Amino acid sequence: MKGIFEMKNKTILIQGAMDIEVEYFISQLEKKEKHIIAEYEFYTGYIHAQKIIISKTLVGVINATTATTIGIIAFHPDIVINQGIAGAHRSSIHIGDIIIGEKCCNINAYSMPTKQEGHSSNPFEWEPNKRAKDIQLGDKALINTFKDFFESNYDKTIYVGTLGSGDVFNREFDRISWLQNQFNHLCEDMESIGTYSVCNRFQVPCIGIRIISNNELTNEQLDKEQAIVLQKFLIDFLQNKSL
Ligand code: 5AD
Repeated sequence: MKGIFEMKNKTILIQGAMDIEVEYFISQLEKKEKHIIAEYEFYTGYIHAQKIIISKTLVGVINATTATTIGIIAFHPDIVINQGIAGAHRSSIHIGDIIIGEKCCNINAYSMPTKQEGHSSNPFEWEPNKRAKDIQLGDKALINTFKDFFESNYDKTIYVGTLGSGDVFNREFDRISWLQNQFNHLCEDMESIGTYSVCNRFQVPCIGIRIISNNELTNEQLDKEQAIVLQKFLIDFLQNKSL
């Protein structure tokens, strides 16, 4: 651990939904302390002289929203990073590629026409509602800092664009294409919209960073280990950059 004068002064809250998305970070924390609030786990400590809080949000938008609210009120972070795995929603994006969320939108909020009994259901007739159109922005300065570092230090492709988020793991080719036409997003996860919405309300700068773990369009099967690749890379970032 570096001396007090070498400490970086910002506190960064880093989120991951599942064990595999936070365990490597937790193993790297110095002066680690565990806190549990309303069953959500937070680990405070230092990584490369940067004050860090690791938050295990659990899966889904409701959990991410709740954990972000608690994290901000209890730990007062200067920056929130929501990170983890995601499914690609474009055939040109592959496992291991990284998406930086310039924008984030709720891809699971719809209005639909009335249909009487026996008239079936057609999700292609649904339309994104007000909440789906309420696009949330990531922090510009953070986006640029991560983009610059990632582009010069990562061997796969880095994309900056929209994260699609909702409590659904879409596995139908035509549905994914339809969604992609509606939202123009690059990938799908189940948490980032909760984080962006809460951070923007509290005016805490935030960024979502997702590594692709699967692509249903190209038949690339789920590889959860990508979660570790991203954590290692983010720790490289913390070693080389100060926020
Ligand atoms: N669709 C939705 N969520 C996904 N995740 C990984 N791939 C996908 C996908 N194709 C992430 C979610 C959630 C867990 C299932 O993994 O964010 O936490």
